[in-house]
Formats: sequence, structure tokens, C-alpha cells
Amino acid sequence: MDRLLAPGVLEGLAERARPWAKQGKTAAYIPALSGADPEVFSAALFTVDGLSRTAGDRPAAFTLQSVSKVFMLAYVLEQKGEERLFSKVGMEPTGEPFHSLENLQFDAYAMPPNPLVNAGALAVTGLAEGKDLEEKWALFQAFVRRLAGKEIAFNREVAESEYEHAFLNRSFCYFLKQHGIIEGDVEELIALYSRQCALEMDCLLLARIGAVFAGSGRDPETGKGLISEKTARICRALMASCGMYNASGEFAVKAGVPAKSGVSGCIMAVIPGRLGIGVYSPGLDEKGNSLGGWKFLELLNQEYRIGIY
Ligand code: DON
Repeated sequence: MDRLLAPGVLEGLAERARPWAKQGKTAAYIPALSGADPEVFSAALFTVDGLSRTAGDRPAAFTLQSVSKVFMLAYVLEQKGEERLFSKVGMEPTGEPFHSLENLQFDAYAMPPNPLVNAGALAVTGLAEGKDLEEKWALFQAFVRRLAGKEIAFNREVAESEYEHAFLNRSFCYFLKQHGIIEGDVEELIALYSRQCALEMDCLLLARIGAVFAGSGRDPETGKGLISEKTARICRALMASCGMYNASGEFAVKAGVPAKSGVSGCIMAVIPGRLGIGVYSPGLDEKGNSLGGWKFLELLNQEYRIGIY
């Protein structure tokens, strides 16, 4: 049995990370997120062979926000393949914040640097299959449902709040459309992206999906193949290099595992071949990563050497 499953391990680390949670600030630029209780802290582990543990406040549901970028990346990789996807978006980390317009000036082709900053994620979502918004959304929801092994909630209020305030994301889309990276209707794309960001779950489910990406793309409970081994590997590599935005290098040094954060305060991390981790604490640092979540993963590396480097 994985030693991280031993009694008290997760609870102990969660209680040590909790004080940091209070120092962060909730995301203000999406009004529906700004009211979250910054004192909440919860965490979960899920191994690639289906064992799990939870700690902290439960049940705490949150919207995925940027963590959904990894799921959409996997979905489009499975649908369109590596070559087509990386003809629209690069694979390089950036020192710029996730919503920086600088992320558009990267190369002669106007390609966003990677699929995990907003401009790159919009380019990826722009490739999702379906004849209209509702069909695209239904197909993507079905994919996430397969990853989760159950029905996934969707927070309409957060999706609408984001859709109404997505001025910067709209400007990325118009730039990318001008350069042929995005081909469809911008409003439809913003609506689909706002919905993917508003998928809602708790840490246990996030850890379970993390376990799919930690392993070879298999369902941790049934062993059924959900995504290819190659898709899981590409997602891990991009999480490791770009998943914590312009703090990805520091996070690699301190926590040492592939991870993706969302501005709601969640982080999905994976220990390759072992397990997925979900952690949630809505107070963010200045780069948009959960402060408590970061500290929890850093402590996990300090105490149990989870890092892969
Ligand atoms: O598009 C946005 O700005 C948000 N829906 C998601 C950004 C995000 O989660 C950045 N993460 N730390």
C-alpha cells in the first residue's frame, strides 16, 4: 500500500498547510468566485489502483477553472491528434501571467505559447468537435463524466458570471481569429470555455481524475482505458512545465510534481505511476495559484519526497 495512505498522513499535512490558506486572496476578476470562504481547506489522494484518502473540510465543491484546460487538452488530443493540436498552440512555458497579452506575441505564427495559458486554452477549446455550442458541450461533458466515473455538476452562475466578464479572453480570441488560429464564432467559443471552467467537483473526484493522468490513462477503479498513454504523458509534461503558470519553475523545485491550478483555488497534482492529488483552498497568491494548496504540496515533497526530479 502507498505510504501516503497511512493513517494521519494526509490530515497532518492538511492541518500544517491550513494557516497559509488564510493569507491568500480570492479571485476578484470573476465576481462569482470572489465570495468564496478563504478559510476552507480540503485535500484528497487517489491511487492508480483505486485507494483513496481525504482530509480537511468536506464536502467542499469548487469550479475547475483552469484545471479544465488539462481535460480539454486531453479531449482534443484524443479527437484531433498531436500534430493538428500543436499546429495551433506551442509547448513552451512562459514567464508571463496566464492572462497576459504578451502571450500572443511569441512567434511569427501568432501561436500561443502553450495550452495552459488562457490564449492557448482558447485555441485548444476552439478545436473541440460538434456542430454547435450545445453539441460541443454535451460531448465534452460526456468525456469528463467518463474520466470521473460519474455525473459531474456544472455551476451555471459561475459560467454566466465568467461569460459576462470575459473581456480579456474575448480579446485573445479576436487576435487568434485574425491570425487563423481560431476559426469559429468567438461568442460560441467564449461560452463553451466559460462552461468548461464552471464544471464543479470536490477534491476526491479531482484526485480520482488525477489518477487517470498519473497512470497510463486507465480508470483507477475499473482499469478501463479512458485516454491513451501518450495523451496522459503529454498532459503530464505540460502540467510540469506550464501548469502553475509563471511560477512553474519554482513549483518544480519546491513540490516537484506535474500540477495544474485553477483560480477558484483548486490544484490537481499527479505523482506519475502512483496517484492523483486534489487540493482546494480559495485564497490565491499574486500569480493566481492557491496558497494553501501550494504549501500542502510543498510539505508533501519535503516530508515524503514525492518529487520526480
Ligand atoms: O479564463 C479565466 O481567466 C478563468 N476561467 C480561468 C483562469 C485560471 O483558472 C487561472 N488559474 N490559476
